[in-house]
Amino acid sequence: MTPDDRAAVLAFLASRRSASLSALGPPGPDEPQIARLMQIAARVPDHGALTPWRFVLVQGAALKRFGDLVVSAIRLEQPHASHDLLDEARLRATQAPLAVTAVFSPRPHAKIPEWEQLLSAGAACMNLLSAATAMGFGAVWLTPRYTRSPLMHDAFTLTHDERIVGIIFIGSHSTPREDRPRPALEAVVTRLASLA
Ligand SMILES: Cc1cc2nc3c(=O)[nH]c(=O)nc-3n(C[C@H](O)[C@H](O)[C@H](O)COP(=O)(O)O)c2cc1C
Repeated sequence: MTPDDRAAVLAFLASRRSASLSALGPPGPDEPQIARLMQIAARVPDHGALTPWRFVLVQGAALKRFGDLVVSAIRLEQPHASHDLLDEARLRATQAPLAVTAVFSPRPHAKIPEWEQLLSAGAACMNLLSAATAMGFGAVWLTPRYTRSPLMHDAFTLTHDERIVGIIFIGSHSTPREDRPRPALEAVVTRLASLA
């Protein structure tokens, strides 16, 4: 990496921002871009190399099925949900051309607790979010209520132990989003006092 490359990476990390789902539309990444994104997503710290995560891509014709599933999942919880609410939920779920569903797949292990594995799954989501943004797309990591639905669980063929830990919606957006307030560093960064 050249010094310029390093500066570009740091500038990107210092300014990265999630997209608004409602601003996302086509085009999404093509197949070579998707392959690159998923390689980057899979390149994360992973104690014991357990690979406690996997991804299910939703795109193209499958988006219609995904929209139907979202509507069914909401109906199951809210039998009296209005048509407007269901239409809006379908639209939001299907407007980005690619929805990458991140699945946490814990591996029973004597020494590596589940929480460490969950963090690795989170790191994979974050890598994907960053990579998609660096590629010039808009991306956002969401966990809508329907991701916890038994209907989604079945449709995504999750095992008993698995759960969806995020959907990373990826697409194109015309206007960059304004930043949001960030935590004051003094509030989140301290130093261990020395004993001397
Ligand atoms: C695990 C996880 C789940 C999230 N789920 C939602 C969600 O369901 N709805 C939502 O509005 N934001 C959700 N967010 C927040 C957004 O992804 C994002 O943090 C927010 O839009 C601001 O992002 P930025 O700081 O990257 O710009 C979630 C974040 C994480 C880490």
